[in-house]
This record gives sequence, C-alpha cells and structure tokens, in this order.
Amino acid sequence: MVASDPRVTVVTGGGSGIGRATAIRLARRGDVLCLCDVSATGLKETAALVESERGRVLTGIVDVRNQGQVRAWIAEILERFDKIDCLFSNAGVNARSTVAEMTLAQWSLLIDTHVAAVVDFLLSERAGFMTGQLVQPNGGQVIW
Ligand SMILES: NC(=O)c1ccc[n+]([C@@H]2O[C@H](COP(=O)([O-])OP(=O)(O)OC[C@H]3O[C@@H](n4cnc5c(N)ncnc54)[C@H](O)[C@@H]3O)[C@@H](O)[C@H]2O)c1
Repeated sequence: MVASDPRVTVVTGGGSGIGRATAIRLARRGDVLCLCDVSATGLKETAALVESERGRVLTGIVDVRNQGQVRAWIAEILERFDKIDCLFSNAGVNARSTVAEMTLAQWSLLIDTHVAAVVDFLLSERAGFMTGQLVQPNGGQVIW
C-alpha cells in the first residue's frame, strides 16, 4: 500500500555501497528517495533498483562539497515534495592510507566531504534543518 504522505528521505552518495543498500531498504518501507552522487552511472543503477521495488525516486548529480549544487538540490527536492523528513549524509571517500601517510590534499578531501559538506546541508535555511522545519510529526532525522 502506498502511504498518502510518504516519508521523504535524502541519501547522499546513493550511487553505490551503503547508500544504495539503504535506498533499496527504505523504498521497500515506502519512503520517497532523493538520491545524489557524483557518479551518474551509479545513480542510474540505484534508481533502477529502487524503481524495481516500486519506489519513487528523484536523482541529482551533486558534489556535496559544492555549496551551490547542494542548495540547488535542496530547492529542487522542496519544490517537488515540499519537505525533507530524513537526511542520510552518507557520501564519502575511503581513506586508503593512515593519517601519517596522507597528503594535505587527501586530508582536505576527507574533511570537505565528511564534515564541511554535512555542515553545509545542515545550514541550508531552505531545508530547515536548523530552524526546526525538518521536525515533522513523526520526527525529523539527520543521520551522519
Ligand atoms: N564500508 C565501510 O566499511 C565503511 C566504514 C566506515 C564508514 N564508512 C562510510 O560510509 C559511507 C559509505 O561507504 P561505502 O562503503 O558505501 O562507500 P562507497 O564508495 O561505495 O560509496 C560512497 C558514495 O559516495 C559518493 N561520493 C563520494 N564523494 C562524493 C561527493 N563529494 N559528492 C557526492 N557523492 C560523493 C561516491 O561516488 C559513492 O557512490 C562513506 O562515507 C564511508 O566513509 C564506510
């Protein structure tokens, strides 16, 4: 049965791995999925898998380190669905070396992707993460 007011969940890094698996699982529960990633191919594959579960999905090629892209993505989601109930901030890069072996560029990539980008999502006034609008009757959630 399709809920009349389904939960709208945003999954960053939805093009593979944990993001993809989560999207499929949530589609089975009836969530509307808004998936973003830098990988167009990965997103397309995940969207097909979600749709095979009869899930509704909106995809966006978004680099979470790019504030303009993030803001535009949030605006598009709100225009389509008028709310965001849950954000799973999953996009990430796996460090292939120890901190001691990392270059400054590798370290910056990690921080920008895993920390700065999340803060950017949270500070987006339109998404309402910091102003309480995210909090729906069922409880808004940010998973980081
Ligand atoms: N797999 C693990 O054992 C493990 C352990 C601890 C933490 N994590 C974290 O969980 C998350 C998912 O891990 P995974 O194993 O599924 O990795 P994964 O590489 O399969 O998936 C990460 C996704 O994020 C996307 N991505 C990377 N940079 C991006 C950016 N700037 N903007 C948008 N999308 C971007 C990638 O294209 C990819 O599709 C990551 O943040 C990872 O660091 C994973």
